[in-house]
Formats: sequence, structure tokens, C-alpha cells
Amino acid sequence: MSVRVVIGTQWGDEGKGKIVDYLCKDVDLVVRFQGGSNAGHTVKIGKKVYRFHLLPSGVIRGKIGVIANGVVVDPEVLIDEIERLRSENIEPKLMVSDRANVVMIYHKLLDGAEEEYLGRKRIGTTRRGIGPCYSDKVARRGIRVGDLLDEDVLREKMELILPVKRELMKVYGVDFDLDIEDLTRRYLEYGEKIREFVKDTSYELNKAVREGKEILLEGAQGVMLDVDFGTYPYTTSSNTVAGNACTGSGISPRYIDEIIGVVKSYTTRVGGGPFPTELRDDIGKHLQMKGGEFGTTTGRARRCGWLDLVVVRHACTICGIDGLALTKLDVLDGLRKVKICVGYEYGGEVLDRFPSDLRILENLKPVYEEFDGWRMTKKARTFEDLPKEARDYVRFIEEFLEIPINIISVGAEREETITL
Ligand code: GDP
Ligand code: IMO
Ligand code: MG
Repeated sequence: MSVRVVIGTQWGDEGKGKIVDYLCKDVDLVVRFQGGSNAGHTVKIGKKVYRFHLLPSGVIRGKIGVIANGVVVDPEVLIDEIERLRSENIEPKLMVSDRANVVMIYHKLLDGAEEEYLGRKRIGTTRRGIGPCYSDKVARRGIRVGDLLDEDVLREKMELILPVKRELMKVYGVDFDLDIEDLTRRYLEYGEKIREFVKDTSYELNKAVREGKEILLEGAQGVMLDVDFGTYPYTTSSNTVAGNACTGSGISPRYIDEIIGVVKSYTTRVGGGPFPTELRDDIGKHLQMKGGEFGTTTGRARRCGWLDLVVVRHACTICGIDGLALTKLDVLDGLRKVKICVGYEYGGEVLDRFPSDLRILENLKPVYEEFDGWRMTKKARTFEDLPKEARDYVRFIEEFLEIPINIISVGAEREETITL
């Protein structure tokens, strides 16, 4: 029996989808515990590319997928993903928490409207309604998945909530008719379509733990997008750190056996906010093109830069990472020199930890360690197959973080993976 958690250690898009698929082979249940359809996880199998926003990546291996209480569920996206899998003759085995909050149409409209209002200071959200939905959850005026299965409960909640949302939309100048009857009917229909999957997932997960099942919890986003520990307010609206794997699923911290951090061999971020090692030059462009760094959810170009180990160490400390999966090493193939950030210079001092103050973040200078580049890692299948320079790069990361790298990914395909 083991319960493992996979966490992104940067600003998302570290390759969690590929690593989760890889680790899923012998797993019984794969669980999403936070975030919503802002996530975009890609799994490539031969010529087929699967992109998931809500379903855990393990469902293509026929594993039981769990969308737990901490996720915010957009039923339109969920139904679409279920139907897409069915059209490929894959019947997803799925459980959706009755406690998970529902992303409503007004959350998506308000997400866009708030971004417009912020103008130059916008966060650059995915506009999937994530912030407004989590705000309602915490303010205790959310609609939960279980409510979609009961007409009386849903109508009563709509009657209470919609007049306030109408006023809010007016403030933001959004022209949309929130008709109580229309919306109640629409969301009841969604409820019918997912009724068979709705469960008390915390009960089911704890039963699975007791029965000795293998469970993998799949994080979305990354630690730098965590609402407490990331580059606030340029973050998402959930906790992405390992601790939330418990709150977001109902599995006790007592049962977590291993926490795995996914680190991309360089850094990317989508949307606004500080990014100390960002490269606005040809190398940045090269990483973007070679790494295919365009958002899975919004198609936006991802900002690119050198690997920042101050960031990764911050993530590893807060999450208590036991072992690392290093991804996209092949994207650095062919560069003459590669750099890793090992500290920040600010006010005549070298900071060795990640500051919370945006003004410091915007004015610091990264301190780099420089390495010789290498030609090719893509064909390597063992650590010894890697060029010496690439091995030095990997060993440096391990030694700096004092955490073992157990997996190295040198391509998007399943077999382009080295285990150590
Ligand atoms: P996630 O959000 O963390 O699951 O990551 P995304 O799926 O958004 O972005 C990672 C992208 O890189 C996807 O297109 C993957 O297919 C691809 N990918 C994953 N690992 C590797 C790798 O080792 N090398 C290369 N070249 N691509 C990879
Ligand atoms: P995966 O799981 C990268 C970013 C958005 C924006 C900020 C807030 O694929 O790694 P939100 O819509 O969550 O309110 O947007 O968070 N963001 C992501 N960036 N990967 C993701 O998910 C992200 N999910 C949200 O770009 O900067
Ligand atoms: Mg992604």
C-alpha cells in the first residue's frame, strides 16, 4: 500500500501529466485534489496526445480517477472530457466529490470582468472562473456538486445567490441575463449527466487506504502559484502545496508515504507576475520554441528562463519533497552554455531564500552558476547514456537541493524516461 503525491515545484507546466502517467502503471486510484479547469496536463502516447483539464491523467491507463472535494468543478468541461474519452472507446472510471464546489457561468464571466478591471495590473488568469469560485466557497455561498442533484436545494440557492451576482455584473459592466429558471434547469441537466459519478470521495478514499490500494494524488499548477506561498497576488486561488493533498481529498497526513516534486530543467510561467530568471532574448525564444511552451489551456506563449533553484528549494522545503522527477532535459540539448540560478543579489546581499515582497522580487539580480552545454540527451535511457555535461548538470541540482532525482525525462513519450 502506498499513498504518493506529485507536486509541481515551479509555476506549473513542469510535465506533471507525463510523470503522473508514468508513475500510474501500478496505481489503483489517481486523485485531483485542488484547482480546476485552469490546469492543462498533457500525456503523449505514440501519435496520440491527451489533454486533461479536470480528469486526472491516470484515467487513460484505465485507473479510477477521483475528483476530490478540493477541486472546483466546471461541469461543462467535465462532461466534455468524459465524452471525448468515450468517443475514443475509453470509459472513464470516475468518482466526483459531492462536496466539490461548482464553477458556475457567473464565475467565468466575473473572472474575465475582474481582469479587464485590473487592466495593466491583471493577473493573467485562465479566465476559467477559478478565483471567483474559490472566493464563493470560502465565503460560504458556493454551489456544490451534490446540490446539482436536488432541484429544490439548487433552486433555493440560485434564488439567494443570483440577485447579488446580477448586481455585481452591473458594477463590472457585464451584460448577461442570469435567469434563475434557465440556469437552474441547465445545471440540473449537468447534474443528471454526472449523477452516476458523484460520491462521498473522502469516504471512498479512506476505504481504499484501509484496503491497501495504491493511490496517487496529482497536483495541479505549481508551488509558486500557491495562494499563500507563491508570488501573491500573481497566483492561482488554491493551495498547490503538498499539505493541501490532505485537505483537498480527506486523506489524513498520517497516510502519505511519499511526496514527489516535478522540476522542469528550466523555468516557465504563464500570465503576469515576477519571474527572476526570465530570458527576454534569443535563448528564451529558443526554449519556448524547442520546448513547445504554449499553454495547454489558453494557448498563450509561456515566458521562459533558466532553472531557478531558489524557487525549487522553496517548494521542496514547504512540501517536504522526498524525491524529484526532472523533466524536459532534452530541451536544453544543443545550447553552448547553460545556467542555473543559485541565489538572488539584492541591496548588497545575496539572498538564499525566496522573498515574499514583490518590490524585492522585481529588483533583484539572479546569481548564476554556468555549465558547459551538451549535444543530445533525447536518446538516453540510462543515466550513463547521458553526456558528461548533462550528468554534471543533474548532479549539481541534486547536490544543491540535497534531494535525490529518481526520474529524468528526455522527451514527451513514455519511453523517453530514465529511472535512477
Ligand atoms: P503539466 O501541466 O505539468 O502537466 O505540463 P503540461 O502538459 O502543461 O506541459 C508539459 C509539456 O511538455 C507537454 O506538452 C508534454 O507533452 C511535454 N513534455 C513532458 N515531458 C517532456 C520532456 O521530457 N521533454 C519534452 N521535450 N517534452 C516534454
Ligand atoms: P497546470 O496544472 C501554468 C496561472 C495563470 C495565471 C494564474 C492565475 O497545467 O500546471 P487562474 O486561472 O488559476 O486564476 O490563473 O495561474 N495558471 C497556470 N499556469 N499552469 C497551470 O496549470 C496554471 N493554472 C493557472 O496563467 O498566471
Ligand atoms: Mg499544464
